Amino acid sequence: MSDFEKFKDKLIKAKSSQEVETIRAEIFGKNGLINLEFKKIGSLPQEDRKKVSSEINNIKQELTKLINEAAAKLLDSEINKQVEREIDDVTLPEKDFKIGKIHPVSQVIDEISSIFSEIGFSVEEGPDIETEYYNFTALNTPENHPAKDMHDTFYIEENMKTLLRTHTSPVQVRTMLKGKPPFKIIAPGRTYRSDSDQTHTPMFHQLEGLHIDKNITMGHLKGCLNYFVKEFFEVDKIKMRFRPSHFPFTEPSAEVDIGYRIENNKIVIGEGDKWLEILGCGMVHPNVLKNSKIDSNKYQGFAFGIGIDRLAMLKYGINDLRSFFECDYRWLNYYGFDPLDVPTNYRGLSK
Ligand code: DAH
Repeated sequence: MSDFEKFKDKLIKAKSSQEVETIRAEIFGKNGLINLEFKKIGSLPQEDRKKVSSEINNIKQELTKLINEAAAKLLDSEINKQVEREIDDVTLPEKDFKIGKIHPVSQVIDEISSIFSEIGFSVEEGPDIETEYYNFTALNTPENHPAKDMHDTFYIEENMKTLLRTHTSPVQVRTMLKGKPPFKIIAPGRTYRSDSDQTHTPMFHQLEGLHIDKNITMGHLKGCLNYFVKEFFEVDKIKMRFRPSHFPFTEPSAEVDIGYRIENNKIVIGEGDKWLEILGCGMVHPNVLKNSKIDSNKYQGFAFGIGIDRLAMLKYGINDLRSFFECDYRWLNYYGFDPLDVPTNYRGLSK
């Protein structure tokens, strides 16, 4: 029986629950100690057998109890240690992170918002999923206008009543319907058209502008856009021309081109004899004012729509629009902006 004592001693000294389980197998396994002891009974004299087997049973019970206690105790402390080890200290600084960059489109939206807020424009928003009414009808677009064509517009329902807005102009009507004049707002956002090449993507960005008040003229529009373009390109002199155009929601309508030249493969803004179209604008059509519950005998004003992605390409020398939306980390790292450098007019927009 001294073997039992030996195992008791081993159990007391065990340092891990794993060790205890090994001992359990040594004692209770098929060829373990207990079974061997029971086997020996057969060779004992008849009169001793009962006594010895009851002794073995007692020891068996005692060892089972000891093993279970030792296993439970060790397992408990092992779990506690593991929990302690695995606790995350959320206050520790991150060791392996990359500083993100601001996408050029977001940067340009911030820059433009900063420029217009300086002269009293506030920011409005409208939904990307629009109704046919706000996107076209309320903006005085005739039923048969080519822009409504299935090929340009992403319709959401077969009845063509909801669609992905093709421009930010519906925000004009939404803004006027929910407030009272005067209005002086810009509305940046995503716009969608079925188009894709080097200068067109199915999703792109526009910024709408609207200024409605008494006695607003085309002169105010010119002054406003002249100020904007100079501030945006961070140049003192700008060559700019208003070219007569047509939009259903403005009368008269114009497109604005800015003068540039190419030097060493780069665009130089404000000089030269080449022209690049950057926005559409005009005096808000009386029908649009009527649809927006504004008395066009009392109030009038101008609106403009700027292609944000195009401006970003021009200002930051990016030559393929599609690269804006490819989510290439290397591209973003190169063309992106420092997240802490929020553009402001007085501190500089892009420096
Ligand atoms: N919505 C026009 C477009 O997407 C751009 C535009 C032109 C907006 C003239 C205006 C405007 O507000 O007055 O092409």
